[in-house]
Amino acid sequence: MITPHNTQAVVLAAGKSSRFKTKKSKLLFSICGRTMVMYPLKALEALNIPATVVLGHQAAQVQEEIQNHTKHDVQFVIQAEQKGTGDAVATSQAHWKEENILILYGDTPLITSALIADLIKTHQTSKTAISFCTTFVMDATGYGRVIEHDGKFEIVEEKNCTPEQRHITRINTGVYIMKRSFLEQNIGKLTKNSVTGEVYFVDLIKMACDQNLGVVAHPVAYDYVRGVNTLQELWEVEQIKRSEFIKHWMSEGVRFELAQSIHIDIDVTIGSGSFIGTGAHLMGDTHIGEECFVGAFSIIENSKIGNNTCIQPHSFVQDSTLGEDVQIGPFARLRGNSVIGNDVQIGNFVEIKATSIGDHSRTKHLSYLGDATVGKNVNIGAGTIVCNYDGVKKNQTIIEDNAFIGSNNTLIAPVTIGKGSYTAGGSTINENVPAGSLAIGRSRQQLKEGYAEKMRAELVKNHACGCTGEDAEKKTVATSETATGFKGAVKTNNISEQA
Ligand code: UD1
Ligand code: MG
Repeated sequence: MITPHNTQAVVLAAGKSSRFKTKKSKLLFSICGRTMVMYPLKALEALNIPATVVLGHQAAQVQEEIQNHTKHDVQFVIQAEQKGTGDAVATSQAHWKEENILILYGDTPLITSALIADLIKTHQTSKTAISFCTTFVMDATGYGRVIEHDGKFEIVEEKNCTPEQRHITRINTGVYIMKRSFLEQNIGKLTKNSVTGEVYFVDLIKMACDQNLGVVAHPVAYDYVRGVNTLQELWEVEQIKRSEFIKHWMSEGVRFELAQSIHIDIDVTIGSGSFIGTGAHLMGDTHIGEECFVGAFSIIENSKIGNNTCIQPHSFVQDSTLGEDVQIGPFARLRGNSVIGNDVQIGNFVEIKATSIGDHSRTKHLSYLGDATVGKNVNIGAGTIVCNYDGVKKNQTIIEDNAFIGSNNTLIAPVTIGKGSYTAGGSTINENVPAGSLAIGRSRQQLKEGYAEKMRAELVKNHACGCTGEDAEKKTVATSETATGFKGAVKTNNISEQA
């Protein structure tokens, strides 16, 4: 690959995206975790070609997106009104300095730096005024058709095509390189199109041919230059990109179950021997270790997963780091920069937020841990939750090494459970528990021996007299008071008591 000298790029990103039929500019839509506009810019960055981006529709958002995702030399100009691609390129004229100007459209995300480098090479070898990329397609709908006569070219946009021209399958891809001198002398000569009133950049091709200046049509493969004007085309290019990544990771030893159902983003990495289940989504800055298992329909976003870790189906791991040999799910949710050590088990219906958990700890069923620091070898019983929010701020819970939290505990933060201590099942813990203690925070059980038989007799009596609903309940209350002398109420169905 050559490193292009004397070349700078102009990327058009001002269009209204009207065929997308969305409020948001099409250039801000994501394709495998990278916005559309960033694809051509990253290809330029790889070649170290400086770029001027033409902004217009949602200029501030598009500019912010670009600035947040590149440190490359990118400048911006504003096309105040979207009068067509010719007008858009003209807007950037004050920035033209190099001998050659490369023009790319922001809606061509599958373009590669290899393709651009090839075009530049062709151009530098041919020494022509213009070199532009063409390709053949089965269905040319939406594209400008390339018409060639005796080595001279003209591009006719679909709206200007005669019925015969519509059948032409050779298309303009919107990727061009031109001598700056040619552009400077001719861009001002472009006129409004008679059908749409837009100023078409493509008309420069015919202009160069009419002036007997050399024009080279550089053939490229269609998939690299697919234009995205509709949501259907967005879906098509994302399918291509996604397949490219899946095939790559397959070649690195990753097994994908029902590969066509899996979503994977551009920056994701996966270690060899890992298994990715049906419908899994691997998103953003996610890195999965070796020999991992990601169960069906799990979503992992911006997270790091250590080797040999198993994420059972339907789990959602977001912005978190998991160690090695960890077991998660099914139906677990981790988020908010949680950090999980090695050999930790987080079971079904457990939510972990902004929490760190030390090695060999377990929280296996139906729990919530938010804003907590959990030590090593800690066991958290089923149904335990921390009350981290007091309505104003989030408070911390600390559970030290080797502590044992009984089932169905309510830990009211801020609270610390000391090293090696126990809390009894069903406890509400609102005071610190010193190391090595047992904390019991629940009401005492009452026992009424022989009471069950009496109660059952009452129930049978009520049933026999045909009392139902409220009547039965009133009757039961009345008779049970007399029968037992106990000053309270016994309800038939839920067998609750009021002392
Ligand atoms: C354009 C080409 C067509 C080619 C196709 C390849 C023209 C006139 N037509 O058609 O020959 O086959 O690309 O994909 O060039 N833009 C601006 N300002 C504007 C208008 C558009 O910056 O006033 C930007 C858009 O944001 C987009 C790019 O230019 O990134 C191309 O515009 P678009 O409307 O998509 O052109 P196509 O109809 O696809
Ligand atoms: Mg387009």
